Amino acid sequence: MKLDRKIAQKSQRYFMTGVSLITSNGSQGQNVMAAEWTMQVSYEPMLIAVFIHEDSSTLKNVLETKAFGVNVASEEQTTSVSIAGGYSRKEIDKLRIRNAFGFVKAKKINVPLIAGCILNAECEVVTTKKIGDHVMIVGNVVFICHDVTKKPLVYHQGKYFKMGHAIKPFRQEVKINCNLFDLFSKRANGKFVLKCVGILIKSKGNLLVERSTKLSLEIIPHFEPARGQDYQEALEKYLKKSKLIVTVKPKPFLKRLIFKNGHRMQRANFIMFEGRVIEMSSKFRWKPLKHNSLLKNLDYDVV
Ligand SMILES: Cc1cc2nc3c(=O)[nH]c(=O)nc-3n(C[C@H](O)[C@H](O)[C@H](O)COP(=O)(O)O)c2cc1C
Repeated sequence: MKLDRKIAQKSQRYFMTGVSLITSNGSQGQNVMAAEWTMQVSYEPMLIAVFIHEDSSTLKNVLETKAFGVNVASEEQTTSVSIAGGYSRKEIDKLRIRNAFGFVKAKKINVPLIAGCILNAECEVVTTKKIGDHVMIVGNVVFICHDVTKKPLVYHQGKYFKMGHAIKPFRQEVKINCNLFDLFSKRANGKFVLKCVGILIKSKGNLLVERSTKLSLEIIPHFEPARGQDYQEALEKYLKKSKLIVTVKPKPFLKRLIFKNGHRMQRANFIMFEGRVIEMSSKFRWKPLKHNSLLKNLDYDVV
C-alpha cells in the first residue's frame, strides 16, 4: 500500500527531537550541519547513528575521513542550528560566519567541535548504509564530554523549544510499619524501583491475605518476578507452589507506590492480577475488606 505523502508530510512534523551539530573535516573543508536524526544506538561499544541526506557536503567529508563530531545543541544555540541547517558548505563556509560558532579542540579526531553544546562526542565511522533517502552513519564514540550547566534544545513542528520541567511520576504514598518496610527494602536491595507481582482475591466482602507469623505480617499474595519472566506464568507457578488454586483473570492493573517509614522511602510497582480462589492452604486467610488494614496503612484497593 502506498503512503499518502500529503498526510505524511504533516504527520512527520509531530515527532519531537533534539538537534545535533555534526562537524566534519575533509575535501569539502571544515564543516557543520544540523541533524535532528542523531541518536545513541549502543551502550557498549558506545555508538551514535546520524542520518544524512546524500547531497550534503558533510556526507562527503565523513565518508572520506571516517570521522565526525556530534555536538548536541543547547537552548542558546538556535542561531547556530539555523545556519548549520539552512546553508550548505557548497554555498558558504558556515564555520567562518562571524559570531556564529565557538570552537573546542577535539582530543582524538581531526575535526572541530562546537563550544556551548550540552554534549560533544568524537566518533569514528564503523558502518554506513543507505536507508531510504538518507545514509545512516554509525560512529564509535572515542571521546565524549557533557556540560551539566546546559539544557538541550528541543525541535518540534519546525520550531525550537526549551525543555520544560521534569514530570513527577505519580506514586501513591503508603506509610508502612518497620517490619514491612524492612521486608520491601531488603527485597529491593538498593534498586530504585522494586517490581512485584501480586494477586487480589476478593470474595463476599473479604480479601485473601498471606500470613507470615515469623514477621508478624499479613499481606496480599505477591512475589518479586525474575527479569524477563512472563508475569502471569510466574504468578501461576508461585500460586501452585503456595498451594493456592486460583483462576487468574488475564487483565492486570498497575499500582505505583512509594512506601514510607519515618524518613525511609522505597518505590515499588505492583502488577496486580485479580483472581477467584478454588482451594487454599493454611498460610492464607480471609480478611474483611472494610477494615482496610492490609499492609497497615495501605488500603486494599491501593495495592
Ligand atoms: C533543525 C534541522 C534539522 C535537520 N536535520 C537533518 C538530518 O537529520 N539529516 C539531514 O540529512 N539533514 C538535516 N537537516 C538539513 C541539513 O542540515 C542541511 O541540508 C545542511 O545544509 C547540510 O549541510 P552541508 O551540505 O554543509 O553538509 C536539518 C536541518 C535543520 C534546520
